[in-house]
Amino acid sequence: MASLFTPLTIRGVTFKNRIVVSPMCQYAASQGFATDWHFDHHARFALGGVGGALVEATGITPDGRITPECLGVWDDAHVEGLARIAATYHRQGAVIGIQLSHAGRKGSSTAPWDGGWALPSSDPRAWETVAPSPIAYHEDWPVPHALDESEIVDVVAAFVAAAGRAVAAGFDFVEIHGAHGYLLHSFVSPISNRRTDRYGGTPENRMRLSLEVATAIRAAIPDNMPLFYRASCIDRIPEEGLTLDDAVALAKALKAAGVDVVDCSAGGILVRTNPGHIKEGPGFQIGFAARIRAEADIATMAVGAITEPEQAEDVIASGKADLVAIGRELLADSNFAHRAAGALGIDKPDFVLPERYAFYLQFRRPAP
Ligand SMILES: Cc1cc2nc3c(=O)[nH]c(=O)nc-3n(C[C@H](O)[C@H](O)[C@H](O)COP(=O)(O)O)c2cc1C
Repeated sequence: MASLFTPLTIRGVTFKNRIVVSPMCQYAASQGFATDWHFDHHARFALGGVGGALVEATGITPDGRITPECLGVWDDAHVEGLARIAATYHRQGAVIGIQLSHAGRKGSSTAPWDGGWALPSSDPRAWETVAPSPIAYHEDWPVPHALDESEIVDVVAAFVAAAGRAVAAGFDFVEIHGAHGYLLHSFVSPISNRRTDRYGGTPENRMRLSLEVATAIRAAIPDNMPLFYRASCIDRIPEEGLTLDDAVALAKALKAAGVDVVDCSAGGILVRTNPGHIKEGPGFQIGFAARIRAEADIATMAVGAITEPEQAEDVIASGKADLVAIGRELLADSNFAHRAAGALGIDKPDFVLPERYAFYLQFRRPAP
């Protein structure tokens, strides 16, 4: 059996294979509520045979959204729509998590197809953004409000309340969004955090908010529920930004706080390091997952330009990561898991529902 199709159990949750839908914003929500677009979008991955999935960056507060069209989980009323997304995966025997997110100083912006830039303050949909320090993401963006300590306590509480709603919606696991320049990453990175209190200065102080969020969520969710953390492992700003050594230290501390898997991404703290503008080649972030797994002794998820079955198989078989997250390739081919099973010579994958095997044979691509 190919390693990619070997089930993985973390705490009480079993991934039927190692292929996970990477979190991907859809800019299709209304007041934070899921819409038909979300159900259609996720159904194709669930039917496509993935082992797990992550729902996009979902705002823990209204000002924690990236754009006004982003999903939300700040209100109990959001639970019903999120539960429908979760059920879509459960019907296919896959597990599903949600990425809990606060956009920080990168919030109040527009969808990529509207420019992906800050909403003008004159726009009625705009809001005041928050950050560790009053430093704008870009000179054309508004200067964010620097959170004081009592507001930081509110952020932690909002993450915990959102995690409770994720549990109520039936998600199998939770991911904390600590990457791509959003609020938690903006505290960890010295580029955006110039505080002089206990949330700034030393690496320990800059990590403090992420660790408080992880500790508080771990205490709030069931013991058998895995907790993931997506990190920007490097800032891509030599001599100023976060390095892989910093990411290893963060991963060790996250493990002690009860995080089970580090999802290893990068970039996003400045416009020129935006993950959407990454030009690197195949599997450019796999090395981050491998080093963190080896040195912090924690499970990892590799992500970034993983597009080929053999490449994904190698990540798992060679012990570089425990899971692979796939974004754009799944948008291009939502049957990637079926394609991979065929390419890796699996005739009758365990992940196909037994009563659906005959149906599966209609479109399976056998090994060449
Ligand atoms: C349309 C789109 C939306 C994305 N939204 C998110 C998001 O909500 N949260 C996140 O952490 N990353 C997000 N990303 C980044 C992906 O999760 C992934 O890390 C990145 O695309 C690299 O993986 P890939 O080469 O397999 O696409 C998004 C990427 C795309 C293409």
